Amino acid sequence: MIETILIKQLKNAVGKKVTIKGWVYNFRSSGKIAFWQIRDGSGFCQAVLSADVLDNKLWEKAQKVSLESSVWLSGEITKHPKQDIYEIQVDDFDFYQIAEEYPIGKKDHGVDFLLDHRHLWLRSSKQWAIQKIRDTLIHATYDFMRINNFTKIDSPIITANAGENTTDLFKVNYFDETTYLSQTGQLYLEAAIAAHGRVFDFGPTFRAEKSKTRRHLTEFWMMDAEIAFCDLSENLDIQENLIRHMVKEVLEKNQVELEILERDIKPLKNIEKPFYRITHEEAVKKLKKLGSDIKDRDDLGADDETILTKEFDNPIFITHYPAEVKAFYMKRDSSDKTRVLGADLLAPEGYGEIIGGSQREDDYETLKKQIIEFGLKPEDYQWYLDLRKYGSVPHGGFGFGLERIVGWVCGLEHIREAIPFPRTIYRITP
Ligand code: 4AD
Ligand code: MG
Repeated sequence: MIETILIKQLKNAVGKKVTIKGWVYNFRSSGKIAFWQIRDGSGFCQAVLSADVLDNKLWEKAQKVSLESSVWLSGEITKHPKQDIYEIQVDDFDFYQIAEEYPIGKKDHGVDFLLDHRHLWLRSSKQWAIQKIRDTLIHATYDFMRINNFTKIDSPIITANAGENTTDLFKVNYFDETTYLSQTGQLYLEAAIAAHGRVFDFGPTFRAEKSKTRRHLTEFWMMDAEIAFCDLSENLDIQENLIRHMVKEVLEKNQVELEILERDIKPLKNIEKPFYRITHEEAVKKLKKLGSDIKDRDDLGADDETILTKEFDNPIFITHYPAEVKAFYMKRDSSDKTRVLGADLLAPEGYGEIIGGSQREDDYETLKKQIIEFGLKPEDYQWYLDLRKYGSVPHGGFGFGLERIVGWVCGLEHIREAIPFPRTIYRITP
């Protein structure tokens, strides 16, 4: 029995006879020799098929190859004399299936065509590279959280009340009640800190975003973290260390993928340097100089984030937003009660917000007042208010949007390529 190995293991099999299994993503032949490019998910290699080696029947069968046919191939592994390229000198093979004419070709397809064929588009090398980097970012997150004493607490997806705002909730019929898909797990994590100290969740979240921008999905993956006994500055330190760890992991583990994406890694390498920290007030001043028509107490719009972050070569925290543009649960700054102890982290190069976070109001009466001020009903937040009655502590946390980080690290133009099957206002298939 010949051993089956992954293409990424070929470098350890030079001179040996092995079997590989995969898909033919390109092929050419000249006379009595054929070269097939093979992909198996772990890597890429070339298969060499020769009429002098294969018997007549097999050589005839090889002529039936088509793009994306699935195959197994056995033969000796050889290495390119100069480069790190491996070949399999095929002496036996068979098709699992000979693919029909593949709809995605070399020519430029429109993005709608590609999105309609997302189930196939995922195979192309750029899409493959993006998902590999996404995988590294996910694992890097789990590693970082564990090393830093966070316990994973899974928050619910069906919720009875708004976690963030009431404008972009997806309603779900839940027997006779109206419920919503979760916008964030934060409120549940605030409950869990009193049991575990430092907690996080990581799962799909939902926003009925009507905006058709390059950074909004209706279903996206969020990692929420919540920390007991934590002020704003410690909160930002944790975020900074987490993002630094994630990017460093990609730089170390995904060199091939970054090359496929033609990502300029110079800006990513800046991650070693401290992140910038400026107040909302300073950001507005800067934006006005850059030509934005932003008003003093406005939230930053997507365009503002783009022009601002093009000015910076590393992520930048914007702190102390006006309370009225942020969520009901944020703690106010004691030296200016109209502003919050919160921050957004914006990715450089025009990418904009990747994290939202804050210290939380921990006093029962103040929180109740803020809930009412935001037009929400205290009775809908009974259990959440309860947390302020039984051992309330200063605490804070943050949430990152995974696809926003994938988009920035990969240098994507649009967030839809950062998730395997994107959901946006106009798309829920495939
Ligand atoms: O800033 P947001 O709304 O913050 C929260 O939900 C907090 N409760 C998180 C927390 O403190 N635990 O969302 C957090 C992040 C944003 O910074 C952004 O990266 C991402 O989630 N995000 C989206 N990503 C893709 N599509 C959308 N429609 C997004 N909305 C938010
Ligand atoms: Mg936000």
